[in-house]
Amino acid sequence: MDKFIIQGGKNLRGTVSISGAKNASLALMPATLLASGKYELANTPDLRDVTTMSKLLQTMGVTIERNNHTLHINTFRVNKFEAPYEHVKKMRASIYALGPLVTRYGKAKVSMPGGCAWGPRPVNLHLEALKKLGANIELDRGYIIARAKRLKAARIVFSTSSVGATGNTLMAAVLAKGTTRIENAAIEPEIANLVEMLAAMGAKIDGIGTTTLEVEGVDALHPANVSTIPDRIEAGTILVAGALCNGKIRAENCNPEHLSALIAKLKDAGMKLNIGSSFIELHAPKEIFPVDVTTAPYPGFPTDMQAQWIALMSIAKGSSTVTDTIYFDRFKHVPELIRLGANIDLNENVAVVKGVKKLIGAKVMSTDLRASAALILAGLRAEGETEVLRVYHLDRGYEAIEKKLQKLGANIKRVSGEEF
Ligand code: UD1
Repeated sequence: MDKFIIQGGKNLRGTVSISGAKNASLALMPATLLASGKYELANTPDLRDVTTMSKLLQTMGVTIERNNHTLHINTFRVNKFEAPYEHVKKMRASIYALGPLVTRYGKAKVSMPGGCAWGPRPVNLHLEALKKLGANIELDRGYIIARAKRLKAARIVFSTSSVGATGNTLMAAVLAKGTTRIENAAIEPEIANLVEMLAAMGAKIDGIGTTTLEVEGVDALHPANVSTIPDRIEAGTILVAGALCNGKIRAENCNPEHLSALIAKLKDAGMKLNIGSSFIELHAPKEIFPVDVTTAPYPGFPTDMQAQWIALMSIAKGSSTVTDTIYFDRFKHVPELIRLGANIDLNENVAVVKGVKKLIGAKVMSTDLRASAALILAGLRAEGETEVLRVYHLDRGYEAIEKKLQKLGANIKRVSGEEF
């Protein structure tokens, strides 16, 4: 288990290049199960979750080679239709195998994802949608068993906007018989990237970019080469690092359009921003203004940036309120930030953050991916030394984050191979 040791208080200067989006890759990779053949997925980030998804697909007979950031995937020999517990327990996005397998091969056995570090994360919407498309779904000893001859189109109205359920349903509907209508579909950029890939594979999808999608099922799809969009959460995390550390930084190879909610809040907090078509420059002011945020589905403020925003607000000049409406329990970072000197009152899903003059380094524990990012950001700002333990969470979703931060002048090092 690795840990990070950070000497805080360094001003950040310079440029970093943003990697491909984890959450897009995790949808694009299983989409290759929908048609036999060879695919190239460009701009795939080098992350633990991508490795887990690769291993999962390999257990099904898929071959995968990585050449820098391009994945070469061959799905000619898919011969097993199962996502075993050992992979699903590491990564909930393994559930994305369900839709493609049942629609293309008529059967799927996928371990039921459990909760995650911060609380329950149901998959009922995925299962209800597949049932509506005609799949027979049973739960057997921790596994979801899905069977179907050929899925049939249906009208699916999601009660909650869900990225995963939209992705799974789309992948199932593209080969179903007839025209499926998906209402209240998620419109996150990662779903748009998946839609782009499915369309390139020959899927017929109307309403792209809206919350109502119409999918006319086809008899067969063909392979396609696609580029993964930039990771808006990585870009946002880097920008908040700059905001916390008196930064003059530039995030390159990102898509500012995907970051509009965060950009508006950074401006409210007093950041000077210069925005191009694929870069964002941030110049931090001396004082950070308190700014309330409430998370919401895209294009709202992302729940995946909530923890980092609390870290930023912990040194703002005044009090702010951060509310998570997507995941009510996603606040495991709060007690750890308090160990660094932050003043935060948590009441259910609302954190009231009273800005303090300074944070002071301490040992803190990562609990999940974005909480870990928030602790690193706070450690970069804190006086003295911060140790962030159990950073394997971070490696799930950030490619070489310490190298990118070092490039900006941060004093952060990884210490490997010991038990912490
Ligand atoms: C995806 C992202 C994750 C992000 C989240 C919300 C991936 C791999 N992960 O997760 O980083 O934090 O979107 O933007 O893309 N829900 C149900 N039943 C379901 C499914 C979801 O009630 O069957 C609820 C969830 O509890 C949550 C809300 O719907 O309150 C949104 O979750 P969802 O968009 O599905 O999240 P994921 O796709 O799991």
